Amino acid sequence: MATLNFLTGNSGKLVEAQNLLSPLGWEIQSFHIDGKVPEIIEPQSDNLTTVALAKIAQGVELLATQGRFEESLLVEDSGLFIDALPEFPGVYSAHVLQSIGCEGILRLLDENRSAHFLTVAALWTGEAVEVFVGRCDGTISIDMKGDGGFGYDPIFIPNECENGHTFAEMSAEEKSTYSHRGRALRALFDYLNVDGA
Ligand code: IMP
Repeated sequence: MATLNFLTGNSGKLVEAQNLLSPLGWEIQSFHIDGKVPEIIEPQSDNLTTVALAKIAQGVELLATQGRFEESLLVEDSGLFIDALPEFPGVYSAHVLQSIGCEGILRLLDENRSAHFLTVAALWTGEAVEVFVGRCDGTISIDMKGDGGFGYDPIFIPNECENGHTFAEMSAEEKSTYSHRGRALRALFDYLNVDGA
């Protein structure tokens, strides 16, 4: 089984990547230095791709300092974008979740509840950086529902889910079928399989 290092401090993201890619023959391991996830600096930017590219550049430098330059490395940056609140929380999704939480988002919304999630995944193949994007359109629920997943999962209903469940009410497999991350990682998997990177 081929191995892919994933640089993330978010265990929810790690589990989703493992659930999706392990059955396809990829072992996803958390990238550690001295037994812990190394700190990286997120730049101030209103663009997820810029953030993901800054993260992978730092990650590749860390690989190099470990003499592991030829190993592969994955980083990703995701955000929730709510139509009624242009570009919000967007690149500030982590900060907004910490400060006002899902409840705070629900208090801000009225009739227009359309939203989408975006993931930009950046992969160091050992030779070059490749970028994969995944998008999931949906709506923000009226109430928080479900206790699976993480982050904004209890308030996000993907349009493709016919029974109107939030991500937090789904199994990891079902969430991956519709999700921004699932889409970005399936594109990454297709690339790895075709190019044998
Ligand atoms: P980041 O990519 O770690 O910067 O994520 C930004 C914020 O969005 C964090 O607070 C995450 O918890 C949240 N987030 C990222 N992906 C998801 C998801 O798939 N479901 C719900 N929340 C998410």
